[in-house]
Amino acid sequence: MRDGADTLAYGECETVIKVALGDRSYPIVLGERLLSSAGQWIAQAVPGARCAVVSDRNVAALYMAPLKASLDRHGLFLGEAVVSPGEASKSFAVLAPLCESLLELGVERGDCIVALGGGVVGDLAGFAASILRRGVRVAQMPTTLLAQVDSAIGGKTGIDTRQGKNLIGTFHQPSLVLADVSVLSTLSPREFRAGYAEVVKYGLLGDAPFFAWLEANWPKVFAAAGAERRHAVETSARAKAKIVAADEREEKGTRALLNLGHTFGHALEAFAGYSDRLLHGEAIAIGMRLAFTFSAEFGLCSAADAARVEKHLSAVGLPTKIAAIPGGTPAPEALLALMAQDKKVKGGKLAFVLVHGIGQAFVERDVTLPRLTEFLARECAAG
Ligand code: GLY
Repeated sequence: MRDGADTLAYGECETVIKVALGDRSYPIVLGERLLSSAGQWIAQAVPGARCAVVSDRNVAALYMAPLKASLDRHGLFLGEAVVSPGEASKSFAVLAPLCESLLELGVERGDCIVALGGGVVGDLAGFAASILRRGVRVAQMPTTLLAQVDSAIGGKTGIDTRQGKNLIGTFHQPSLVLADVSVLSTLSPREFRAGYAEVVKYGLLGDAPFFAWLEANWPKVFAAAGAERRHAVETSARAKAKIVAADEREEKGTRALLNLGHTFGHALEAFAGYSDRLLHGEAIAIGMRLAFTFSAEFGLCSAADAARVEKHLSAVGLPTKIAAIPGGTPAPEALLALMAQDKKVKGGKLAFVLVHGIGQAFVERDVTLPRLTEFLARECAAG
């Protein structure tokens, strides 16, 4: 045991965090250079299953060979299916041929899909696994910071349609999450920073000491693979595991807290066309700052906490203002329309994740449109 009943240390290298879901419980295995021992972990998690690996071209070029070699050593490798990188792969147009490729590889009911990549690959491959032969198992091998701390854990899968993001999908828990922290070194600084916004989110929504630790240690988290980076990933993964175990299907309000900054953030992403203009994590950074400022303006949280959040996000180089989006600022009405589309308006009110302070998020179902309109008008006008 390392620290806590849900965390076991295996050897000196890996940490195993349990996602406690009864007979669907699974481990998150976190450590360095896990690609080369993936076969061993997968053989333990899904005994007897053969593996079809789904990845994207960029990730496959870097990591398919060592993963295949490890799976081969255990006689597990069935084949691979490689899609184009980018959000456009989360579509029916890519899902259909992917499912057919997996059937052609000979994936059977007892086999396992291995999702090797970031959020797009994880969501797409997880969804394919959930519908292939009425459901086969999936092992998530997240290769981005965002996927390691959030999207690979918890079983949300899906694709986008022209009506919106993630509107078609399933809950399909993986059998294993294998997070090799050493692969984060190949991320671009911008991508790493965007993923870091989701790390900060765990501190802001429920763990004030972790936020304070990030304020003090972020340069080491960013600098290189090391103890601090691993601590940040582990703490985030542990927080996500706990939230998923408490509210797997987002029915009790706990999992909804993971949407801190996301109602504002999704609207900003939609405004920027889900493009390189604004990465998901950058939108969430602006969204979290807006959630704190909004909460402070309405006396729910202290101005000092809102200022601390803005200071930390700015210190690491994340955007915090709507005006920071390159290529133009949205009109407040346009943003409001996008937010209303993202979250259903009920009786002229929107549900939001707001805060009583750092580490104290809650769901507020009573945010009125006039209040929000006035706030957004000010924020969109602010330079
Ligand atoms: N990424 C939000 C969730 O898993 O619920």
